Amino acid sequence: METNLELQQGTSMPRIGDTAPDFEALTTKGKIKFSDFAKDKWVVMFSHPADFTPVCTTELSGFATRKSEFDALNTELLGLSIDSIHSHMGWVQNVRENTGVYFDFPIIADIDMKVAKLYGMLQPNESETAAVRAVFFIDPSKKIRLIMYYPLNIGRNMDEILRVLEALQISDEHKVSMPLDWKKGDKVIVGPPKTLDELNARLADDSLEKVDFYLAKKHL
Ligand code: BEZ
Repeated sequence: METNLELQQGTSMPRIGDTAPDFEALTTKGKIKFSDFAKDKWVVMFSHPADFTPVCTTELSGFATRKSEFDALNTELLGLSIDSIHSHMGWVQNVRENTGVYFDFPIIADIDMKVAKLYGMLQPNESETAAVRAVFFIDPSKKIRLIMYYPLNIGRNMDEILRVLEALQISDEHKVSMPLDWKKGDKVIVGPPKTLDELNARLADDSLEKVDFYLAKKHL
């Protein structure tokens, strides 16, 4: 188990199941303390390598244009890059002037790399100065539930980001698992039986799509 010092130095990385490390930071929407941010909500926290760069502009525009879908999933967006607040503000204005798209969510100005190192977003063999494209899915109890990392030159997929966010929430609500390529409306996987009585009930349940007792699906 990593120590706080390892987390701060960036020599260790938060993992699925960990409590999201706390921090204070300056953002385009003002100062935040992460433990007080988005109370009772999910957070999708993502890093981009640099302001005023092409792939990042497409990605943050994607988050901005689909923000209402994150709102509908009780989820706050939180961006980050190793840039100053002035750079962030200039870029947000520039994109709005050029395309009409407004990045209406906080973007952390992590010029001292403090948060990037804390979250393992700075991966020196990819870049020593720019954060990789990370996405952390953090639940309302501030537990990290899923992590994505993409390199500098490959943009992320917004459908996939929304798909896994919704999958996590539905999985929590119904205590089910999601099969390959699951999307909302598809059948879900029910948990395996834990006793012989449950096994017999499973075998007798004709409402389930069953491959065998250990792989059974149903519609919610
Ligand atoms: C980009 O967003 O286009 C980009 C940023 C940093 C390195 C490579 C590409």
